[in-house]
Amino acid sequence: MCGIVGYIGKRQVLPILIKGLKRLEYRGYDSAGVAFFHQEEIKLQKSVGRIQELEKKLDYSLSSHIGIGHTRWATHGKVTIMNSHPHQIGKITIVHNGIIENYLTLKKELESKGYLFQTETDTEVACALIDWIKKNNSSLKMVDVLNEAMKKLKGSYAIVVMVQDEQDKLYVMKKESPLVIGIGKEEYFVASDFSAYLDDTKDYIILEDNEIGVTSMDNVSIYQNGILKDYVVKTLNEEVEIATKGEQEHYMMKEIKEQSQLIQKWNTLYFDQKEKLPDITSYQRIHIVACGTAYHAGLIGKYLLEKNTDFEVNVYVASEYRYQKNFLDKNTLVIAISQSGETADTLACVKMAKEKGATTLGIINVYNSSIARVVDFVIYTHAGCEVAVASTKAYTSQVYVLGLLALEYQSKKEKKNTYQELPVKINKLMEYDYSTIVKHLYQKKDIFYLGRNIDYVSMLEGSLKLKEITYIHSESFPAGELKHGPISLIEEDTPVIALITHEETAAKTISNIKEVKARGAYVVLIIEDGIVDSIDKNCYDEVIYLPKTDEYTCPILSIIPLQLIAYYTAKKKNLDIDKPRNLAKSVTVE
Ligand code: M6R
Repeated sequence: MCGIVGYIGKRQVLPILIKGLKRLEYRGYDSAGVAFFHQEEIKLQKSVGRIQELEKKLDYSLSSHIGIGHTRWATHGKVTIMNSHPHQIGKITIVHNGIIENYLTLKKELESKGYLFQTETDTEVACALIDWIKKNNSSLKMVDVLNEAMKKLKGSYAIVVMVQDEQDKLYVMKKESPLVIGIGKEEYFVASDFSAYLDDTKDYIILEDNEIGVTSMDNVSIYQNGILKDYVVKTLNEEVEIATKGEQEHYMMKEIKEQSQLIQKWNTLYFDQKEKLPDITSYQRIHIVACGTAYHAGLIGKYLLEKNTDFEVNVYVASEYRYQKNFLDKNTLVIAISQSGETADTLACVKMAKEKGATTLGIINVYNSSIARVVDFVIYTHAGCEVAVASTKAYTSQVYVLGLLALEYQSKKEKKNTYQELPVKINKLMEYDYSTIVKHLYQKKDIFYLGRNIDYVSMLEGSLKLKEITYIHSESFPAGELKHGPISLIEEDTPVIALITHEETAAKTISNIKEVKARGAYVVLIIEDGIVDSIDKNCYDEVIYLPKTDEYTCPILSIIPLQLIAYYTAKKKNLDIDKPRNLAKSVTVE
């Protein structure tokens, strides 16, 4: 969701900006732009659509050593060149990620001072505000101008500023949206995250909230409340990788395939981190907060923890948690699950939980991300860089970690771990031929997913995967709820995918499948091998057998065919699988 880059140094700026923007593509965007100094003038270039469109417009022969770039994920106003960043007013040119909550009030004030706005964006207002403060306080240094602007801006922002009068500097300011400064040899990089310039430098300053940074060719300074402060340079090591597609056509397929190889790695790495965990037994309440796929992993975690330990666990959608009564105190452990570690809603929950005295534990994939830095304790899921917007391996890594937590604290101290056999079982599901199923699904408008208990949760995730990348409407229902309403949606040939992995609910779910089959549904049954003595062949059209497993590994195994069904259906529809429309990988606004 919006990517920011900046560069100041001896090299030509345009290729560096474009490279950085391409690395940040995974965050999701619908337009892109750059601004750079060329012969004392700030040049702007913007385009809607992919970065390739912007590249077509760039004149690489224009020499420049300082510039900024942006990929915009539209929030305020349509996807137009006008609304794209950078925005320029007077002597100020900026790129921005985040949301200025009070932009309408500020806009009115600035209009009354004579500013005319050309765009619908909140960013143009922030740009005008900085310009106005600068113009009207000629004695103030630029750092102080930005400091004054910070006092007026409400909301979240990572902003990079170029000033017409200061052609040897880039300014950055940050509140609740991520921003890092990479330190090279007589060059500095600015980016929304490390992945933009990992091959250029491994040394970074991670900007904290309310900080302002000033970079010149040979120096960087960090200020807070107008006062110069010390900063820490963090050197990244092997925790961060630059992802490539390898031989796969899409990142999503590469990431689905990686799941079987990652299991062994997770086992070792998790146990390395175990020592650093809080004593979970000392809390009265466990709350899990997360969004989207990570929320589904949390629901699986609830199931595994409650079934096998004596903890009561409640799971909350992060964007709702903050606005409800949540009984947070020092006896509460709040577990925040997030692949990116940047999800604004989840981050806000963690901050609120800490303020109310709760202990916070992050289950995070991206090393050193905002949530990872804020929580009291962190378990890294080590899924590696996940590029496809639709999360796959990050989800299984989250489920894996939650399963290990449940194993760790299980009340019956029996040693069970069937994770070793998981890679072979996953590979078996990879080999299944999904083409007949996909042929039935890809032109449909609605697809329904059914399951009971933990299978219902897996189906929530399967259904989310499908809708994200195929744009087919899909919903997951607890199988027992069908008769209470949703069954009215079933008509001739409506696809229904059902999952059965537990003996105690198998017979009941099979009855529900028969009910939809009797009303003409096209039924795909995914069922654990040997779970029932025999299934009536008339109750399904296609069947996928899951290799026999146990309750810990079953949610990992059952998601594989669902990920693949979504992937192959999107492929059949010839869609942009890795970058589905309207979606961002990292949701940094609330
Ligand atoms: O980075 P996070 O895990 O915090 O992201 C949460 C959701 O935005 C994310 O899981 C989203 O639902 C994915 N696109 C699902 O595939």
